[in-house]
Amino acid sequence: MTGVGVGIIGTGFMGKAHALAYRTAASLFPLRARPVLEMVADVDHAAAERAHRSFGFRRLTKDWRELVADPAVHIVCITTPTALHYEMALAAIAAGKHVHCEKPLAESEAKAGAMVQAAEAASIRTQVGFNYLKNPLLGLAREMIAGGELGEITGFRGSHAEDYMADPEAPFTWRLDPAGAGVLADLGSHIIGLARFLLGPITAVIADLETVVKERPVVRGSAERRAVTVDDIARLTVRFARGCGGTIEASWVATGRTMQLGFEISGTKGALAFTQERLNELLFHRAGGPASRRGFLRIEAGPEHPPYGFFCPAPGHQLGFNDLKTIEAADFLQMIEGGPAKGPDFREGWEIQKVVETAVRSSRVRAWLSVP
Ligand SMILES: NC(=O)c1ccc[n+]([C@@H]2O[C@H](COP(=O)([O-])OP(=O)(O)OC[C@H]3O[C@@H](n4cnc5c(N)ncnc54)[C@H](O)[C@@H]3O)[C@@H](O)[C@H]2O)c1
Repeated sequence: MTGVGVGIIGTGFMGKAHALAYRTAASLFPLRARPVLEMVADVDHAAAERAHRSFGFRRLTKDWRELVADPAVHIVCITTPTALHYEMALAAIAAGKHVHCEKPLAESEAKAGAMVQAAEAASIRTQVGFNYLKNPLLGLAREMIAGGELGEITGFRGSHAEDYMADPEAPFTWRLDPAGAGVLADLGSHIIGLARFLLGPITAVIADLETVVKERPVVRGSAERRAVTVDDIARLTVRFARGCGGTIEASWVATGRTMQLGFEISGTKGALAFTQERLNELLFHRAGGPASRRGFLRIEAGPEHPPYGFFCPAPGHQLGFNDLKTIEAADFLQMIEGGPAKGPDFREGWEIQKVVETAVRSSRVRAWLSVP
């Protein structure tokens, strides 16, 4: 088995998830080329050294450009703050590397579009880190909807709620950057991506975005404050191309919620309900039975839901967050080897960003807007 060199830029939350995912994918999935953790880059040298040691990267650097230019790096993973994705991705594409970029793809729809053009012009393979879409049960949900098991879809109610910014003393970070961040881009992009994954394109939106905590300390404990201009809560009403409507909410001040990425989808023949808080369960209601037996059936994840079986032969033993990232890495590696394109790729990341930006504009003008 030959090797495919993986270079990871950033060693924070997502840098670790990518390192773990590529290392694990090599052991679990049938791949012709074994991924090798070739190089890690981080401006924080101590963090790069820690990642180098703990994950067994062959080499490390402080300079991401060195990683991108290195001939032994074939896949560049971009796991840095969102505003850096554009420059790093364009450099990686120019160097002929396949790019696995974290979500949201870029801090603006225009930059995301330019990334798509560059990647497609150079025939570069791309992947965007919407890892929750890799849940085998969400693949099942998509199949059930496409197969008509829910009948005609009449509504989508989705939310992504967490509480990591609920504390007003939580300091200002890159997630509050006025140039393109905020909760809708950060968390909302996940639930918009999920809505599109299950029900297809969103064509129009009206949104109400709200900043709850108007200023935050520049660093934790500091008396110096910086004004917050981006959204803490985003509430959207949307229309899908297939004809139904829906609501989408994103909040990072949802006290008590740490991972409420979920939805309910109603149809004329049935309904589905899901929350990432219980990611190994999909609830399915079939309409029309006796009223005394009405309710939701709990479908438990198991080896019947590929690729669960690569992780564990027994149902009910459960996948976790990092397993979804591993599936994402394996899908990308298999596509590079000529397998099917399962996405989401840069083009889908761009489509999601268009919905985000249309919603931000809609909230400013207080009106329905078409998604371009
Ligand atoms: N897919 C998901 O579920 C998920 C979850 C969290 C974050 N994200 C996304 O991942 C990205 C990173 O988020 P995070 O939570 O890992 O951030 P983080 O702050 O934990 O990590 C960012 C890392 O990038 C490094 N970095 C910053 N500037 C750099 C530069 N110029 N060169 C090299 N390294 C640099 C930092 O030192 C840090 O190690 C964001 O786009 C975010 O939206 C995705």
